[in-house]
Amino acid sequence: MRLPGQEPEGIVRVPGTVIRMDSNREGAWQTLESDGDTAKYRVAYVIGSGAHASGYIISLANHLFQSPVAYYRRRAAYGLAPGYENKPDPDFTRPVEPGCLFCHADSFTAVSGTENEYAATPFQHLSISCSRCHGPIDAHLRHASSTNIVNPARLEPAARDSVCEQCHLKGLARVLNPGKKLTDFVAGQPLEQTFTIYRYAVPIGTEPPFKVISQSEELALSRCKRASGDRMWCGTCHDPHNEPQDPVSYYRARCLSCHADTHFASDHPPRTSDCIGCHMPKRKPNDGGHTVFTDHRIQRTNHDTPAAEPTGIVPWRDPPAELAKRNLGMASIEAGIEGGSEGEVESGYRTLTEVQDQFPLDSEMYWTIGYVLYLRRQYGEAATNYELAVRFDPNSSPKEASLGSAYAALGRSEVAEMYLERALDLDPLNLSAAELLIGLYEKNGRPEKAEAVRQKIQDLIH
Ligand code: HEC
Ligand code: HEC
Ligand code: HEC
Ligand code: HEC
Ligand code: HEC
Ligand code: HEC
Repeated sequence: MRLPGQEPEGIVRVPGTVIRMDSNREGAWQTLESDGDTAKYRVAYVIGSGAHASGYIISLANHLFQSPVAYYRRRAAYGLAPGYENKPDPDFTRPVEPGCLFCHADSFTAVSGTENEYAATPFQHLSISCSRCHGPIDAHLRHASSTNIVNPARLEPAARDSVCEQCHLKGLARVLNPGKKLTDFVAGQPLEQTFTIYRYAVPIGTEPPFKVISQSEELALSRCKRASGDRMWCGTCHDPHNEPQDPVSYYRARCLSCHADTHFASDHPPRTSDCIGCHMPKRKPNDGGHTVFTDHRIQRTNHDTPAAEPTGIVPWRDPPAELAKRNLGMASIEAGIEGGSEGEVESGYRTLTEVQDQFPLDSEMYWTIGYVLYLRRQYGEAATNYELAVRFDPNSSPKEASLGSAYAALGRSEVAEMYLERALDLDPLNLSAAELLIGLYEKNGRPEKAEAVRQKIQDLIH
């Protein structure tokens, strides 16, 4: 992450909406015009070095929201950001959650019980720095010694690979262990002490689709990695401290460090050729994205394998045995909701409810179960689970709002209003709670209360 500089000027037009970008001495600005209304936002932070793309973040009353546009360097133009392409009315209301910052910023302070509120100074460091790969640095700064700092290359393989996977393996879902937050992870440990990454399993002999932020998954499919095992990792080819001056010869040397004795067919190009040009080409990922990425599958021939139908959801590495079913159930539900697969949601629900008695105080679990019941329109049972979610995590605005939504669906407006009001007490910029509450007030003939909620939000963001 970085602070905005002189960001390029530009304009993005979609039906009904125009977004203009301009910079002046006071900062970088993005102006949204929609239905005759105009709103001008100052860019607070920029995501990405700009190597491929830049994403933009605005800050309103210490709440971070995403901009619907991104700048694409190859096209030298702005376009809709990933995830906004097929959505009507792009605007600045999508919360920036900690998951996003965990991969893109060094360290930050989130306000608990909110989706996207942060401390007044949200970041200690913007760009990713030493401690994210080398673990805690305080003792090392007081007395520099190789015994009080993590050297990723010398860790056991699961912990070593975790250092890069924390950011370079997005997976289908990242499921936190009970009571953990992402930032509890410190380099030196395996990720599974804090969270488990899930991915699709595909039939043997086929390959999953080529995706964004999936270098770890791809490398694991390569013949090189399968035949070399733990000897090979990201650090075999990448030195995070230095970008190679001449990538072709730099990576060729990495290949030949293992392939010096490989017997090539007589028609194979010589050992002085551009290995990566043929074996690690750049491709467009199948899951959207407007740029190309390097194919880490290191295939024999340069062709794209057709995507296979997944056969199930599996952990990248196993979590502690006692959490295996709980985490798998949560992952399956999350992936199912994200990808619109009822089958995955239902199978996750069955897995989770099988073990739920083992986690009687697990607020996240009740919240997830509640959400599935809500989707099934079993609003009474959804409310029961949301009550438990709120009981074991008493000051969470999003959870109070969920409880409010279940009562609203049950037609119990008064109780619903009470929980939604509480959600807004805990976080006045919980926009989805505000929208629901405004709807209820209007439906129940209290437009003045609806107007007061609207006014409060306007006061906060201006
Ligand atoms: C805290 C998150 C984080 C960690 C940890 C991390 N990376 Fe990255 N890495 C990123 C992000 C974000 C980018 C994209 C930066 C950009 O161009 O905006 C990136 C970019 C890269 C690039 C591309 C650089 C370029 O010039 O295009 C390589 C290679 C890379 N990382 C390797 C690694 C390796 C190897 C590790 C483990 C030792 C690692 N990273 C750990 C977040 C991380
Ligand atoms: C699991 C970690 C992870 C998460 C979560 C994540 N990103 Fe990224 N993102 C990356 C990495 C790593 C790259 C660099 C591309 C690559 O290595 O394939 C990247 C690339 C980008 C880029 C292009 C920057 C560049 O220079 O390449 C933007 C913009 C971006 N992400 C925005 C976001 C936003 C906004 C969110 C949250 C809604 C988000 N990302 C969530 C890891 C993540
Ligand atoms: C993206 C991950 C990443 C970041 C960020 C990072 N390093 Fe490293 N660092 C590594 C890896 C991986 C190695 C091991 C390289 C090897 O030996 O193959 C390493 C090795 C080192 C070494 C050599 C250690 C030894 O025993 O030989 C030093 C010194 C070092 N890093 C300092 C720093 C400093 C200072 C910073 C912050 C300015 C930093 N690193 C940031 C990943 C990172
Ligand atoms: C850590 C060692 C290592 C590194 C580094 C490495 N490879 Fe390999 N690679 C192997 C091994 C081992 C095999 C399997 C050889 C065998 O089966 O006889 C292999 C197999 C291959 C194959 C055959 C793939 C197939 O599907 O049959 C290709 C192509 C290949 N490597 C290219 C490369 C290129 C290009 C690079 C550099 C970008 C590279 N390798 C780096 C160890 C490595
Ligand atoms: C066999 C060598 C090799 C290994 C091992 C390897 N990479 Fe790469 N990686 C490359 C090459 C080659 C490029 C393209 C560099 C270029 O074009 O300058 C690349 C590019 C990248 C980039 C830039 C974005 C992109 O996709 O083009 C990222 C990020 C990255 N690698 C991350 C990783 C991570 C994380 C791992 C470990 C899971 C890893 N790499 C393992 C060779 C390797
Ligand atoms: C012009 C494209 C091209 C370049 C450049 C290239 N290769 Fe290949 N390579 C191929 C093709 C095609 C095959 C598969 C040949 C076959 O299946 O008969 C192959 C096969 C291989 C194999 C598998 C050998 C075997 O028979 O098991 C390895 C390993 C390999 N290449 C490594 C490298 C390395 C290392 C470099 C760089 C010094 C390199 N290649 C440069 C196209 C290329």
